[in-house]
Amino acid sequence: MLVLGIETSCDETAAAVVQDDGLVLSDVVHSQISLHAPYGGVVPELASRDHMNNIRHVIESALRESNSSLSDLGGISVTCRPGLSGALLVGLQLAKGLAWATDKPIVGVDHLVGHLLAVYLKYAGIASSEPELPFVALLVSGGHTALYRVDGADLSQIQELGATRDDAAGEAFDKVAKLLGLGYPGGPVIDRMAAEGNPTTIELSRPMPGRHSFEFSFSGLKTNVMRHVAEHGQPRDGAALRNLCASFQFRVVETLVRKAVRAARSERVQSLVIGGGVAANLELRETLRRACDEHNIRLFVPPIRACTDNAAMIAYAGSLRLRRGESDAATLEMSPHTALRTVTRKGPGRRDRKY
Ligand code: KG4
Ligand code: ZN
Repeated sequence: MLVLGIETSCDETAAAVVQDDGLVLSDVVHSQISLHAPYGGVVPELASRDHMNNIRHVIESALRESNSSLSDLGGISVTCRPGLSGALLVGLQLAKGLAWATDKPIVGVDHLVGHLLAVYLKYAGIASSEPELPFVALLVSGGHTALYRVDGADLSQIQELGATRDDAAGEAFDKVAKLLGLGYPGGPVIDRMAAEGNPTTIELSRPMPGRHSFEFSFSGLKTNVMRHVAEHGQPRDGAALRNLCASFQFRVVETLVRKAVRAARSERVQSLVIGGGVAANLELRETLRRACDEHNIRLFVPPIRACTDNAAMIAYAGSLRLRRGESDAATLEMSPHTALRTVTRKGPGRRDRKY
């Protein structure tokens, strides 16, 4: 069965055609980075308008590149939550219209579930292996930072172990880069600068080091960088800037790796999966690989295109439900919130003492 996936939850307009075994036949992503770059972050109103302008072209490209037409599809899968409301509505309304006009089944997918199952995508010419269930997943992007235990693809089989109380890790990279005048998005540039810096020259605070918590908090670390700049001024030379980037990145990576490995060990799973845009970070990949080797955990790092926002992961997640004959045509609605059960409260305090 072929499934058309549509993703417009944030600043990527994406469409993909995927087989229900996970093989990606086409994967088209129109990024809005240059549109939002002057503002140092995503502007919701601009995002919705740009999705409107590009969605038709992106879907047509995805169909063309997969050598398929609407009549070949077994169904349509669309991101319906969480995300920017106006942006989500563009994809959702278009998907509903397509499903109605072609009389195909349609399912709504939670964007976070898409990320968690992206490890099952297969790309022609790229070797891949699948983690055994259950696994622990570290999802680190510009909008989300959380650890999950995944026992299956259904919402009821995915348990949040802990998430960020404030900024997502990618958001912290973006805000620190903005503060240092490095442009948007901040992750890739800080990643490059940090590789040439010394992380031990500036002592920044450890973000939420609590041994028994799987929750994260990155806003204090960002404030710490801000305070350092206020006290010492903007780094005057390249070396000082690289050292500050390295010190910041070291703290983020250290926290993510420690908590991810501790979560995998405490859940007694063999596999750790990583996803989201920050999974592109070289230091994170290398440090996680070393830590997993040390603790006999199998690490699964999907190709970067599967980690960042894309519609192939949405098509695949939806295909699992379409294959069972399910359709949401009558009930499909948008929500800015995830449908996954959360245990982390934004800001101080916890809802669930278990972790
Ligand atoms: O998953 P994604 O494409 O979009 C969502 O946020 O959903 O992730 C984008 C985020 C941005 O915050 C960006 O700065 C960060 O991922 N990012 C990185 C790197 N590449 C992208 N962060 C650290 N190191 C990188 N190499
Ligand atoms: Zn995402």
